[in-house]
Parts: sequence; structure tokens; C-alpha cells
Amino acid sequence: MKGVIFTEFLDMVDEAFSPEMTEQIIEQSDLPSGGAYTAVGTYDHAEIVALATNLSKATGTPVPELTKIFGRHLLGRFATLYPNFFEDVPDVLTFLELVDGFIHVEVRKLYPDAALPRIETERAGDDGLIVTYRSDRHLGDVAEGLIQGAIDYFGVGASIQRQDVDSQGEGQCARFTVRLTAQQAA
Ligand code: HEM
Repeated sequence: MKGVIFTEFLDMVDEAFSPEMTEQIIEQSDLPSGGAYTAVGTYDHAEIVALATNLSKATGTPVPELTKIFGRHLLGRFATLYPNFFEDVPDVLTFLELVDGFIHVEVRKLYPDAALPRIETERAGDDGLIVTYRSDRHLGDVAEGLIQGAIDYFGVGASIQRQDVDSQGEGQCARFTVRLTAQQAA
């Protein structure tokens, strides 16, 4: 997993909790990397699981909830780090349609070793989009948080309905129906 995910996770813990909390969970997680991440490095996915598990223990907040909060925070950070992915994008549904065929394609050029999920989209009427997440990294909660973060970014009212789909042993599959609320629909 790319270092940018780790540096952003630890920054979120610094801000949302405290720098002492960040130090504590790094120590408790007994990380092969020692917790010294650079944005362009690549680290074992197990390290973020250990960090999230220890943050959950220390805060009493369940891991899935923390993971969604992180995804939501991460999207806001992506908007600062990669503004070109947001320029000229008219609305949140169009943005979500661009993830698989454009944004993650560009991410792959920046980080050839990136481990990216498949994000399929399908329009559901004028005001809805079905976003299907598939990955063997089981980060559907991050995806949900990222989608919520995109809704925040575009400043619209929208609901997310999640359905976990049986992937028949092939990683995780989660389907999110994003629907703009009535007054926001085009
Ligand atoms: C500007 C927007 C975005 C950028 C720059 C971006 C970039 C990235 C990067 C750098 C990674 C890490 C790859 C690795 O660790 O090897 C990643 C993974 C991921 N992305 Fe995106 N992403 C964006 C939007 C989204 C959105 C909107 C979704 C959800 C619909 C999404 C879903 C995911 C998930 C769930 C992963 C974790 C890997 C996995 O589950 O297999 N991304 N993305």
C-alpha cells in the first residue's frame, strides 16, 4: 500500500486525536517500517490494519467506523494533493464515474506499483449512481468514506445506500447507491 495512505492516516490521528495518540499507536503496532513513512514508498497493508486496530482499542471506536472516517478525510486531502482530478468536474456523480477510467489510471502512472480496486459505475435515473467496489484488499469501508468525502467536497445533499454482495470468494464486493436528495437533483 502506498505511503501516502499511511502519512494521511497518521496526520488524521494527529488532528482528530493528538500527536501523543499517533506515537502510542505506532509503538503498540510493532511495525516493520517503524512508522517512518514517505508518500512515495510502499508498505505492507498489514501495517495499516495494525494501526487502525490499535487506534480502535485506544479510542473505543470500532475499526469500520474509523476506516470510514479516514476515507472521508482522505478524499478532502486528495482534493488538495491532486487538484487536477477535481478541476472541471461538474458534480459528484460525474466525479465518481471518473475514478476507474481516469483518476486511478493516472494514479497508476504516478505509482506503477499501486494496488487499486475496480470501481464500476452505472447511472440509476437522473439523480442516482450505482458504484460497485471490488478488491481483494477488503477496503469497502474506505471506499464508502471516500464516496462520502466526495459528496462533502461537492457540497450536495446525497444519500449512500450500501449493499454487500457475495463475491463467491473473489475478494470483497460492495455496491453503493448514491442518490442526490430531491432539491439537489438536476
Ligand atoms: C482524487 C481522487 C482519488 C485519488 C487521487 C485516489 C488515489 C488512490 C491511491 C493513491 C490509492 C492507493 C493505492 C495503493 O496503496 O497502492 C487508492 C486506493 C484506493 N482507492 Fe482511490 N483515489 C481517488 C478516489 C477514489 C474514490 C472516490 C474511491 C471510491 C469510490 C476510491 C477507492 C479506493 C480504494 C477503496 C482504495 C484502496 C485499495 C483497494 O481497496 O483495493 N478512490 N486510491
